[in-house]
Amino acid sequence: MRVSVNVNGVEHTSDVEGRQLLVHFLRNTVGLTGTHWGCDTSQCGTCVAWLDEEPVKTCTVLTAMADGHRVRTVEGLADGGTLDPVQEGFRAEHGLQCGFCTPGMMMTARHLLNHNPDPDEATIREAISGQICRCTGYENIVRAVRHAAGHPSQPSGSAAADPAADGDSTVVGEPSQEVPA
Ligand code: FES
Ligand code: FES
Repeated sequence: MRVSVNVNGVEHTSDVEGRQLLVHFLRNTVGLTGTHWGCDTSQCGTCVAWLDEEPVKTCTVLTAMADGHRVRTVEGLADGGTLDPVQEGFRAEHGLQCGFCTPGMMMTARHLLNHNPDPDEATIREAISGQICRCTGYENIVRAVRHAAGHPSQPSGSAAADPAADGDSTVVGEPSQEVPA
């Protein structure tokens, strides 16, 4: 089937199999490998990107479901050479070690901050609770998000500046993520 998906502001039209997952479309068809593929069973959250301004686990979304929609990936966070404050936060607070979980963490963190500019630690932990990090113990990830909250200046045109964003920070595409454990 033929699909057309706007990824980070660029339209991508392609023939795909009906069973193709969005994570594979992003990585293999579009060539944006920042969205990682980990468990493929909706457990790890490393595949989180935005579908029409909502974080989704892209291993739970068919490419066909994204036809005619907008997707934003971690590659769309920075504005040219200017990093998003979330990216700056992860850098400043050493919010990553191997980095495998990091793109998904950043996309969830940006969504959270767009809707709650000053989240406390418990709120941050709840927001990222659908995502697994095997390296950091989450401490530095929480600090990274707090850092971004404290340094909110946004480059124009970044995901963070999206005026259409509203709602909560729930990762959709998986019922169990509606109330993160
Ligand atoms: S690849 Fe693990 S939740 Fe999607
Ligand atoms: S930094 Fe390695 S899994 Fe999170």
